[in-house]
This record gives sequence, C-alpha cells and structure tokens, in this order.
Amino acid sequence: MLIRSPIVATLGHVDHGKTTILDSVRGSKIADKEAGRITQMIGASYITKQIIEEVSKGGKLKFNLKIPGLLFIDTPGHEAFTKLRDRGGSIADIAILVVDVTQGFQPQTIESLKILKQYKTPFVIAANKIDLVHGWKSNKGQSFSESFSKQAEYAQQKLDEKLYELMGKISEYGFDSERFDRIQEFDKQIAIVPVSAKNKEGLSELLMLIAGLSQKFLEGKLTIDPDGRGRASVIEVKEEKGMGTTVDVIVYDGLLKKNDEIIYLTTDGVKTTKIRALLQPNLAGKEKFDYVDQVVAAAGVKIFAPELEKVIPGSPLDVLTNFEEDKKALEEQFKDVLFEGQESGVILKADSLGSVEAIVDLFKKESIPIKSAGVGKIVRQDLLTASVVGKENLYHGVVIGFNVGITDDAKDESKNLDVPILWSNIIYKLVEDYNEWKKTTMQKEKEESLSNLPWPAKIKLLAGYCFRVSKPAIFGVEVLGGVLKNKYQLMKSGEVVGVIKGIQHEKKPVEEATEGMQLALSVEGPYYGKDIKEGDILYSYMYGEQIKTWEKQLSLLSKEEREIFEEIKKQVKRTF
Ligand code: GTP
Ligand code: MG
Repeated sequence: MLIRSPIVATLGHVDHGKTTILDSVRGSKIADKEAGRITQMIGASYITKQIIEEVSKGGKLKFNLKIPGLLFIDTPGHEAFTKLRDRGGSIADIAILVVDVTQGFQPQTIESLKILKQYKTPFVIAANKIDLVHGWKSNKGQSFSESFSKQAEYAQQKLDEKLYELMGKISEYGFDSERFDRIQEFDKQIAIVPVSAKNKEGLSELLMLIAGLSQKFLEGKLTIDPDGRGRASVIEVKEEKGMGTTVDVIVYDGLLKKNDEIIYLTTDGVKTTKIRALLQPNLAGKEKFDYVDQVVAAAGVKIFAPELEKVIPGSPLDVLTNFEEDKKALEEQFKDVLFEGQESGVILKADSLGSVEAIVDLFKKESIPIKSAGVGKIVRQDLLTASVVGKENLYHGVVIGFNVGITDDAKDESKNLDVPILWSNIIYKLVEDYNEWKKTTMQKEKEESLSNLPWPAKIKLLAGYCFRVSKPAIFGVEVLGGVLKNKYQLMKSGEVVGVIKGIQHEKKPVEEATEGMQLALSVEGPYYGKDIKEGDILYSYMYGEQIKTWEKQLSLLSKEEREIFEEIKKQVKRTF
C-alpha cells in the first residue's frame, strides 16, 4: 500500500485567477497563451514535493510531507463549462475555490461551491488578488503572514473587511469559514488563504494547507494498491511529431504499465489496445518527454499506442480485466454524456467530448437547436448534411466547428453548396457568430422577398396624352404617390387592366418612377378609351399573399405610401 498524490482541482468564477495560481507555483505562463484567456480544457500539472517545499520555505506552516506531490487539475470558469467543472470537482480529492477578493462571490463561484458540496470534496478558499486591496503593498514571493505583518493597519483592515464579506457569503451555503491562521479546528472550518497569484504572495501557506489537509483527512482515500488495476481519465487526444496519436490521461488508481492491455471509448465504440510507451514531460527541459515503464496513481501521463485516433476526451480508460464486463461498465459510466440531437438543427464538430458537452449546454440555453454533435474534423459529409437541413430550415443550414480541422473537400463543398462553416476556438464566440449569421441571413431573405414585391403606386391618366390606344396602349400619366416600376400590373377599381411594358421619362426609358413625375407608359392589355380613359386613377396591383407580406413590413413604407397601400388593400379585398 502507498499514499498517492492528491488530485487537486482549482474551481471558481471566470478570471478570478485559477490558472495564474498554478502558473505561479509552477513558474510557467499558461494563462497568457490561452485563447480568449479562458481555460478551454482540463489540464493537469504535477507539483512535486520538492516544489512544495521550495515554495513554502519562507512560511511558518511546516510539517513532514508524506505525499509525493500534488496533481493539479485546472478548470475553466466560464459559465458554459458546467460539466467540465463538475467532472473536475468529481475527480478531485481536494479543491481550491478561487475567489477574487475585489469581486467576491460570483455565479460560478456559487456553482463551484455547490459542486464541492455535492461530491463532499474538501476545499480551501484562495482569496486571490489581495494586491488590489486598497493600500496593500505587495511583498513578492513572501508568505501571507510575513507580508500581512508588514502592511499598514489600514490595508490590514481593508483586507479583513473583504474576508468577512466572503465568510458571510459562504455561511449562506452552510459552511463556517475563517482566515487560515485564525482557525482552531480544521475539520470544522473552511480555511481562507489570502493570496496574490500575480505577486506570489501567500502561495506557501496555500500549498502547505492543501498538502496538510490531504494528509490529515484523506489518508484512507489516498492509500492505494500500487500494483492494482490502473484506472484513468482521458484529458486530451494529441498528435505528437514522429509518434502519431497519443492520449494524455490522469491515472487516479493503481498502476499503469508499458505493454498493458487497456480498454477505452472511441467515437466508434469501445476498443482495446496495448500500451507501446508511457511518457512524462521532461522536467529538466532538454527533451520534450521522458519514457517511463510504469506510472502509479496519481499521475498525468501520455500514452502512445495504436488505434488511439478516435478516443473521446473526457472518457475513462482502464487496464483490461474482462472484456465483456469492462465494456458494460464503461458504457454504463459514460452513457449520460452521449448526445442525441434534435430533428432539425445545426451540425456541430468539436475537439473533445468535454467541449461538445459545454457547447450543447450553451446552445440549449441560447435556444440554438443541434441536429448532430461529434468529436473530430469537419468533413465533406457534414456540409452535405447541413445543406439538406438548410433546405428545410434556412437558419439551421450551417456547420459549427470548435477548435477542429477542416478537410479541403469540406472547404470546397462549403463554397459549392453555399453552406457556411462557423469556426472558433472560443466557445461563446460560436453563439455570437451563429446569431450574427442568422441575422444577416434573415435580412437577406427579407430583402429577397421584398425585391419581388410590387411597391404601392398610384397614378393618374393625363388628359390629352394618348399616343396609341392598344397593343400596347401608350399614354401619359402622373405619379401621385409611391413607386412605379416596369413590369408592374396595373389595376382600376380592383380589376387588373394590364401590365407595364415600358416607362419613358423626358423621352428616355427608365425602370422606375416616383411621386410627381410625368411619364409615358406603354401598357399591354387595356384598350384606351374603353378599359381606361383620361382622368382615371390606377394602382399597382398586388395579390393576397403580397398584401400579407407588406403588412409585416409596413415600417418600410412612408406615410403616403402606407395610405396608398391601404387604398390598394381595400380595392383588392372588394374583388375577392
Ligand atoms: P478562466 O480560466 O478564464 O476561468 O480564468 P482564471 O480563473 O484561470 O483566471 P486567470 O488566471 O486567467 O487570470 C485572469 C486575470 O486575472 C489575468 O489577467 C491575470 O493576470 C489576473 N490575475 C490573476 N491573479 C491575479 C492577482 O493575484 N492579482 C492581480 N492583480 N491580477 C491577477
Ligand atoms: Mg484559467
């Protein structure tokens, strides 16, 4: 039996500093590189006992570390990632709830707290960004206690005020909390550690508390059989140069060895394969990876093996014991996250199951229906499907891609079929882009249907200007209002009398004419002197459907045009 490293999840509202806390401990800069500054995927970082001891050098909390290190899982704070937060919270042995002290509790802080409560995950609160507290003078790299003692009384009070606010909030959810250095009983109160991730203040106490609490309260859970069945969660599927497809996993139980048979989920169903190599990041930084023969939980490790191309990120991956039984257990565990689409909706492709879930959730909230959602590249077939969907419902005929590749023939087909691909590596941007596309599509459709609509027009036949009586009749008119265009049908008292073949204005042909213009019209249909005569008032004709369309678009008409439209409507109705 062996004590494994605790798995620690950072949870909290967007931008409250989860990734920066990890970065500061690790000394890396991941938060700067993330697209849109939002953590899109759960990533693991292992912090060894040595790093913990190094960071905690200055601090007062000191004890013998029995755990080999801490395995951190970072989760995103954006509201769309409920399921990722939930999974992070569920796999974690202990958590850090990160709260920006200047902002206090926010919606995803509360949601995170509920997740922790649900899984009964012990946690500490990192009250981050204390450097922004009024009057606070940062002491870079120092422990909280050290830095706090150097602050002016005013700044100390300001910070405590903020902490009391947090304590008040958290008590609403049934938790008793206290600043960590004032706590009497750690199993009754939630510890609040004030930190500045940016200036690395308070990190020593944060790490020591996490380590200490895990050792004290989780020893049973952390004790594993180091030769037991290896069990893991897939974090990411990655192409590695010279190697091909690999999967990054977090091993949370037992032992995983080179040459082990493993069972896992793919987009084609349950599969098994044999581990060719296990890799870990090379901490010395000379090579990218170190080859290892085995890993014991808890660890993040990269697996190289054949047939990993279609592994679903977020799914379980275990050492094979009995195929039929393992398969059943795996499918059972995973069935709640497989997605069933609606009858009509957009086509979604994303890079991992986690992102599919997050997007499906978000789209549901935004009432954007999804017909199918899958993991992997956008291929030609996706465009063909979207095109068929688009014929039924114009606003669903689109392929949405999150952080995935697009094959060349898919790009070609997108042009051929005039089916757009909306791509982004920021989830909420997909919603924005979709809504934007829908808006322009609606606008276009409106313009198209309007372009076939006759505009309301009212004309008067001028006395003494008949140039030809029929076939076609040519005569002079004045436009009393509206817009008269070539090819319009004209009506008198609700009866169609003919169709305009040509309009001349000052002896030149024109396509349309407006109020006040005097024109020569050539009209096929009427016999001048019989069907129409000087002084007659004619209108542009529209049939029932066109009248209905106009009624929805009345805002496009001027006051005078609206009056003419009403007169047309009355006449057309009379003849129904
Ligand atoms: P998501 O992953 O998007 O949920 O955010 P996060 O919680 O990981 O926040 P992140 O670490 O990306 O930090 C968000 C912003 O806050 C960045 O601009 C950081 O530089 C800044 N920040 C983080 N910690 C501190 C801090 O202690 N003090 C100050 N002043 N800024 C900080
Ligand atoms: Mg982050």
